Amino acid sequence: MEQQKKSSFSGSIGFVLAAAGSAVGLGNIWRFPNLAAKHGGGLFILVYIALVLLFGFALLMTDIAIGRKTGMNAGNAYGAIHKKWKWVGHLTFVVPAIIMTYYTVIGGWILKYFTEYVTFNGAQVASDGYFGNFTSSTVAPVVFMLIYLAITAIIVYAGVEKGIEKFSKIVMPCLLILIAGIAIYSLTLSYTTESGEIRTGLQGVAVYLVPNFDGLTVGKFFNIMLDAMNQMFYSLSVAMGIMITYGSYVKKDININKSVTQIQIFDTMVAILSGMMIVPAVCVFFGPERMVNEAGAGLMFVTLPKVFENMGFAGNIVAIFFFIMVAFAALTSSVSIMETVVASCMEYFKKTRKQMSLLVAAVAAIGAVLICMGYNVLYFEIALPNGTVGQLLDIADYISNSVIMPLITILTCVLIGWIAKPKWVIDEVQRNGEKFARKGLFIVIIKYVAPVVMTILLLKALGVF
Ligand code: PHE
Repeated sequence: MEQQKKSSFSGSIGFVLAAAGSAVGLGNIWRFPNLAAKHGGGLFILVYIALVLLFGFALLMTDIAIGRKTGMNAGNAYGAIHKKWKWVGHLTFVVPAIIMTYYTVIGGWILKYFTEYVTFNGAQVASDGYFGNFTSSTVAPVVFMLIYLAITAIIVYAGVEKGIEKFSKIVMPCLLILIAGIAIYSLTLSYTTESGEIRTGLQGVAVYLVPNFDGLTVGKFFNIMLDAMNQMFYSLSVAMGIMITYGSYVKKDININKSVTQIQIFDTMVAILSGMMIVPAVCVFFGPERMVNEAGAGLMFVTLPKVFENMGFAGNIVAIFFFIMVAFAALTSSVSIMETVVASCMEYFKKTRKQMSLLVAAVAAIGAVLICMGYNVLYFEIALPNGTVGQLLDIADYISNSVIMPLITILTCVLIGWIAKPKWVIDEVQRNGEKFARKGLFIVIIKYVAPVVMTILLLKALGVF
């Protein structure tokens, strides 16, 4: 069972940065600040940090240990743990395959915005209706999506060490510097409203960081916990085969316990800094209510351009840095998604990396064109069981992240917690005599807490309550 793959990360730093690259993505940059603003600022952040420390590590550790111990991709790894569970491995293939299509479409939007700012077209980007007109046009979104997809595919084609690791080692430190720089700039902003009121970046930070307990009830607190939990699993890219694949490239002498902690610190730091960057800027120019009301794509592609516009010339420069930073964050995530699909296809079809990268890129392009068409020719909306209304991209996101992902988490917890037993993972973590400090906690989470919480999240997504 312990066959070692040929490809591998050169060492611990390469692995940690590549895995952090997968984890740090659009979820950190637009979803986290938005949830924090919605759920009473610092309160959400505190709950999130507590959950990261208590729970986050367990599933990340499980995925990475499954990958390293079996040396296989998710597709075969589940079968190697227990013959009857091989189908769960195949199920994990579906999640990145779906995400790949719409993530590249959003990646294309980011590149489009970046080009607009580089050519100093910020005023146009900030004008009403720009985002809707762009996404519903037929050619431009497809062209930018194809460019983004090509960059992703080239990195995957170049391989684990020469492609993914090398790219992550350059891009992740840059990302951290850019995001910290923009966050500091955001704190210095100030704006005088028509009524003469002065709003400053520091007040904005207070909205973000100071816990707001107004009207807090047990029910509301429960909802905050569920949202934070959901966000955390999405943000760590667990339960979709990605961390299993990356885990299979980790050398046996690396301390995965330590790596998991480092990946979590990186991911959480970027999420918190993203809020420091976005929340004050939006609050200064539009007031705190606007931040709370903005959801998803609207925040990044509609509200922020208006914020940049309000900053004047400096805004255009900040926007250039912002969108390149977002592009870095998104690219390292889509690389991990495509790598997982390519690696599985290499095993399924017994073909080379180069052949499979081309094939997967071609299939992804077709899927992504369909998602682009979801904004024009294929536009339709349906009510989803979780109470939201969605078009093609939202449906793809709903199926992969709200339904299949929790399902895989539940199944993984049952397999590791009750059938293979937690010791299966613990032995791998301690294989070189490393200390696994949170062992007891790990067992409780894998056996009881995670499956119960994920079942609640799944039932909620399915509209049961
Ligand atoms: N974890 C990434 C984020 O926070 C998103 C992601 C999802 C990446 C699925 C890879 C796979 O944005």
